[in-house]
Amino acid sequence: MKRQGQSTKAVQACDRNCPILDVLSGIRRSPVPLWFMRQAGRYLPEYRRLRERAGSFLDLVHKPDLAAEVTLQPVERFGLDAAILFSDILVVPHALGQELAFLEGEGPRLEPIADRKALARLVSSRAEETLQPIYETVRRVKAALPPKVALIGFAGGPWTVASYMIAGRGGDEQRAAKLWAYSDPEGFGMLIDRLVEATIAYLEGQIAAGADAIQIFESWAAHLPEPWFSRLVIEPTRRIVAALARSAPGIPVIGFARGGGTMLEAYARQSGVSAVSLDSGTSLAVVDAWLPKGMAVQGNLDPLLVCAGGREMRQETRRILRALERRPHIFNLGHGFVPETPPEHVAELVAFVREESGGA
Ligand code: CP3
Repeated sequence: MKRQGQSTKAVQACDRNCPILDVLSGIRRSPVPLWFMRQAGRYLPEYRRLRERAGSFLDLVHKPDLAAEVTLQPVERFGLDAAILFSDILVVPHALGQELAFLEGEGPRLEPIADRKALARLVSSRAEETLQPIYETVRRVKAALPPKVALIGFAGGPWTVASYMIAGRGGDEQRAAKLWAYSDPEGFGMLIDRLVEATIAYLEGQIAAGADAIQIFESWAAHLPEPWFSRLVIEPTRRIVAALARSAPGIPVIGFARGGGTMLEAYARQSGVSAVSLDSGTSLAVVDAWLPKGMAVQGNLDPLLVCAGGREMRQETRRILRALERRPHIFNLGHGFVPETPPEHVAELVAFVREESGGA
């Protein structure tokens, strides 16, 4: 593998010597820095123990001392290059007044929003108050992290969040959201506008509290027809990124349009994101040819390969590192860890990535 030392440009870009922020500013670092989607959570015994003390998942998210501890658990255990705020994409609809519960073993349930009349029930006036504990978590994590570890804040993409708000749950393949978007584009646009506004305020709150970079999780971006992908994924993302560029200049934004497929080039070029996170099904050669020169990419190991571990995990990791060795690269998964993942496999993966990409 190509081995590069730290360049003087890297020092300028990040006088903190923070590898993830260097990569997001377009500089390749060696060893390739890494963090993982869903790096905090049920696969870690220390999370499961703390979760029992906290009560419900939503209680945990709203208790800054515990949420900060959970955020730091994987960083401390594995020595990762970034922490990601422990929260959820659905705290935004919750802050707008939509009822939300996380059912054990089943995932989130929201009181579904059926049509544009129901939009009146969403109110922004108390949103910031509801989100304060999350900003407090960011402040605490920031204070606890060494400068070389980046703190990543996040929000869901408006389309993904809207699809949960409308179906009331995951798993309907966005049928309810698509039917609304196709039958009442104007009303649906009003919901997206509300979410763009609320998401900007939420991300600005995280940045003011100390987040160094932002990731937008558009987890249900697959299978949208081209014009709707542009209207419902690219355009809302562009508005969020543009607002952050005004209020928090220089804050990098990682876009994760999972399942974006052949729309990824337009997404990367038009949305304004600083970097794209790739799902495991993405061809790295194709993406490398499509994306703007020097744009950072993040990804894209299949999380189930970490669950399986062993030779296939290592081979695939090596393939990904090689395929992206001409780009600024942050090693990550193509989606989040599953709860069955053995933590020892994660430790082995971290050591392997560092070894293979030029570390000691
Ligand atoms: O470590 C991290 O990555 C940070 C924390 C984080 C969570 N959710 C914690 C969580 C992040 C970044 C998210 C984002 C999120 N939440 C997304 C986008 C990313 C993705 O996975 O596609 C989505 C779609 C959601 C909605 C959501 N939240 C679902 C579908 C579920 C249930 C599935 C499950 O794993 O149980 C959640 C609950 C949730 N969010 C858990 C965690 C750790 C599990 C809660 C528990 O402890 O029981």
